[in-house]
Amino acid sequence: MPVFGSPDLAIDLGTATTRVAGRRDCISLRPSVSQNIHALNRGVIVNGQATTELLRPMIQKRLRGHLGRLRVLACAPSDVSVLERQMVRSCILEAGASSVITVPEPLAAAVGAGLDIGSKYAKFLVDFGDGVTDCAVIRDGQIVASLAERVGCSDLRQVVQSFAKLTIGIDLPPGEADRLLRTLGLRREGFETCQGLAGGAPVQARLRVADLHEELRPVIDRMLAPVQTLLRTLPASIGAEVIEDGIFLTGGGALLPGMREAVAEQSAIDTRVVPDPIGSVICGARRMLPLAASLDLWKSWGPRGRAVP
Ligand SMILES: Nc1ncnc2c1ncn2[C@@H]1O[C@H](COP(=O)(O)OP(=O)(O)OP(=O)(O)O)[C@@H](O)[C@H]1O
Ligand SMILES: [Mg+2]
Repeated sequence: MPVFGSPDLAIDLGTATTRVAGRRDCISLRPSVSQNIHALNRGVIVNGQATTELLRPMIQKRLRGHLGRLRVLACAPSDVSVLERQMVRSCILEAGASSVITVPEPLAAAVGAGLDIGSKYAKFLVDFGDGVTDCAVIRDGQIVASLAERVGCSDLRQVVQSFAKLTIGIDLPPGEADRLLRTLGLRREGFETCQGLAGGAPVQARLRVADLHEELRPVIDRMLAPVQTLLRTLPASIGAEVIEDGIFLTGGGALLPGMREAVAEQSAIDTRVVPDPIGSVICGARRMLPLAASLDLWKSWGPRGRAVP
């Protein structure tokens, strides 16, 4: 789909949260899950109708200001398949947009984090999202290497819920499981109180953090693995630039207590969480709006989401 002129609206379709921003208006957010119906799973659309319904009010609200033609820049994980990308485009068109271009999420995140993506020195960014862990090396304005694993905070939340059910016999609502996750993160010590339901009645219980951590560990390791794998595959010169500049973390998972330390320890590279990790993708996508058409990021993107050299 050709884009005539620069896009008007940026969209970050996230597994947990969908964010939309025009060039000058405020960022609007909506949960990507409504009444237990997931529009997305692991970063990609699993329910086209739910996605269109999620996006329609966000797009329609802005159509009037653009004479009924709204061009969209949408973000997608770096390993998105052609079919998955087509799904993103068709849902956005169905919701009322007139054209869509797609950019890889880590590139938008890097722009949003204020990294100098045009630099000839490589930047290494990891986006720990709700459904995807997306790692990328960015140099000269494009992604030169990337690796995504379809695992994220939603998997950690599920572990918290099944742990509570199996060990203390209570059902944790997703909100309480998320609260526990955000509070405990990668902690291994102490006890934590949680609230849920047992036999339909509200109950409060105490859980041993070390036991929960043991269950969370395999998922945490799956989230950390692509960082290490991508680092290992880099040519020595790029690796040296990454060591010099450090690793930058974005996404909600970057805020989990202990996540930054875990990446730093595993990689032995200085690791920083960017100032607004959750807003990085949408802020960067918005900043890319005036430039996106001329950069033609879409064409430089290969069939499996890897950058074409
Ligand atoms: N302090 C925090 N604030 C918000 N979210 C947090 C925090 N700490 C951890 N999280 C986790 O981050 C998750 C959301 O991350 P994010 O917004 O980056 O995901 P997403 O963009 O919707 O998903 P994806 O990019 O994987 O499709 C939350 O569901 C929560 O589990
Ligand atoms: Mg995201």
